[in-house]
Amino acid sequence: MKIAVLPGDGIGPEIVAEAVKVLDALKLDLQLQSAPVGGAAYEASGHPLPPATLELAQASDAILFGAVGDWKYDTLERALRPEQAILGLRKALGLFANFRPAICYKELTHASSLKPELVSGLDILIIRELTGDIYFGQPRGRRTAPDGHFPGAEEAFDTMRYSRPEIERIGHVAFQAAQKRSKRVTSVDKANVLETFQLWKDVMTEVGKQYPDVQLDHMYVDNAAMQLVKEPKRFDVVVTGNMFGDILSDEASMLTGSIGMLPSASLNDKKQGLYEPSHGSAPDIAGKGVANPLATILSAAMMLRFSLGQEAAAQKIEAAVQKVLAQGLRTPDIYSEGTTKVGTQQMGDAVVAAL
Ligand code: NAI
Ligand code: MG
Repeated sequence: MKIAVLPGDGIGPEIVAEAVKVLDALKLDLQLQSAPVGGAAYEASGHPLPPATLELAQASDAILFGAVGDWKYDTLERALRPEQAILGLRKALGLFANFRPAICYKELTHASSLKPELVSGLDILIIRELTGDIYFGQPRGRRTAPDGHFPGAEEAFDTMRYSRPEIERIGHVAFQAAQKRSKRVTSVDKANVLETFQLWKDVMTEVGKQYPDVQLDHMYVDNAAMQLVKEPKRFDVVVTGNMFGDILSDEASMLTGSIGMLPSASLNDKKQGLYEPSHGSAPDIAGKGVANPLATILSAAMMLRFSLGQEAAAQKIEAAVQKVLAQGLRTPDIYSEGTTKVGTQQMGDAVVAAL
């Protein structure tokens, strides 16, 4: 099994090193190969996603990705910015299904920004469509307004669009995920205002008929944003478009205590996947050895589960993470009184020891 390891920028190399340590400790037959990506690749070769890195990713069963980006690249033209690397990988590999589980570990119930009783036992799965919607829709651009409230003024525009097959394939992913969980799907849309999301709702309803064992309900995105903080445990699998999913999954991350705990998987229809923590490169804490590596370690577990068919190994990692939390070990982002503060490497070492 071939894994491309792309550490990237900021805390990326620090947290990926810990996940690699954990994978090594499992003694599976894995071939890991590293390559530069993001700002690190731009510094070395003038491109955030060099052809050799893309080729390595394409030839691998899975990609373990750290994070990319730094404020110092904000003045570069858009095509050269580190973030283009992750967009380029999603596009080149057709990674359309983004799994973002939000699990509140029992030990971190008090780290959440919500009352403990609202989040204790929380385990929801947000499935975000990743290659369509307003983030990629054409046309887009700037122009002189031909009409509207201020004709002749400078204006900018983007296009929200989804095709039926795009909605169908993410729908099947969501219903099949729900079959393995509590058999409930909430499809989040804005069908009351947007034609794109009326089609979304119609197609989700049709796909849902093929899964009579799964209960489907629909919710408008504004209500979903509210329900996530009012009564998050009412959700199980949430499926939604690219932009709503981006926002709701970040909102859900805060229910669990820290974004440093949240893994993610981005999959295509060949089970090839890119696995990365939900957070970014955290330039404010890079190089200090304090970043929480658990989101990346849990992403490695998702990689074993979804792309490499190693469910038992995935569960071992998840149990080891639970164990280090139960031991009271905490990086600063999840620290609370009475627990033991540790750094990035100590946390990784503890997971290996627990394994
Ligand atoms: P961020 O997620 O990097 O950081 C937000 C806050 O969370 C910071 O205070 C950071 O210190 C903290 N944080 C993040 N991960 C942590 C961890 N593992 N342990 C402890 N604390 C952690 O988001 P921000 O600051 O908006 O963006 C920083 C850079 O990352 C930008 O250049 C952005 O474009 C990029 N980014 C990259 C992503 C990716 O590679 N997929 C995703 C999101 C942002
Ligand atoms: Mg986001």
